[in-house]
Amino acid sequence: MPEHRFDVQNERHAAYDINPIFLNRWSSRAFLEKEISNEILMSLFEAARWAPSASNLQPWRYIVARTEEEKGMFAEFISASNKTWCLKAPVLALILSHTPSPAGGVNGSHAFDAGASWSYLALEAVRQGLISHAMAGFDRESARRLLGVPDDYDIHAVIAIGYHGDAQSLSDQHLQREQPSGRRELKETLFAGRFGNSFE
Ligand SMILES: Cc1cc2nc3c(=O)[nH]c(=O)nc-3n(C[C@H](O)[C@H](O)[C@H](O)COP(=O)(O)O)c2cc1C
Repeated sequence: MPEHRFDVQNERHAAYDINPIFLNRWSSRAFLEKEISNEILMSLFEAARWAPSASNLQPWRYIVARTEEEKGMFAEFISASNKTWCLKAPVLALILSHTPSPAGGVNGSHAFDAGASWSYLALEAVRQGLISHAMAGFDRESARRLLGVPDDYDIHAVIAIGYHGDAQSLSDQHLQREQPSGRRELKETLFAGRFGNSFE
């Protein structure tokens, strides 16, 4: 198994026993300008492929930018703030989901399933010693137009994929945020039996 460059368990503490890979995934912005081999990149999308989905419809799609030309197109719709760090990543990808249900109408799970697919990718990225940083900071309509995304696909996020680099290359604002974040307590997330009932 590839080595993880960062082990964040000193900064993140799980209240219950979980696989450390969940804690080791975090959204660093410090990318190394280093290519990812096709074999390793494909292993991330292979992980994404095995996510569960309603009726196994697998509604997720990924538009992948690897060449300078493709990344230049992505740069047209990514927010200025995100561009300051994410363009160093060797790979960018736009996550979409196919919205129609085969039974007619809209598949109510398309976004849920696409999120599950990205989270599989993100965990495999950790296993491969890579960062996969999701971004909602981009112009969806420009992305749709520039990349030719049909109307029956929703656009969810851009992800930057690459190796960990030197945090000193970040702007002051991003450098301050360059650390694994915490989470609220589980009791604030869980309800017992009915909305609002505390789970003790
Ligand atoms: C859908 C989504 C959109 C996000 N958008 C951005 C973004 O535009 N820019 C950014 O720097 N981080 C973005 N993030 C990263 C989040 O800020 C980060 O996941 C969150 O603070 C939790 O931290 P962690 O991923 O390090 O655990 C996004 C994450 C997700 C899942």
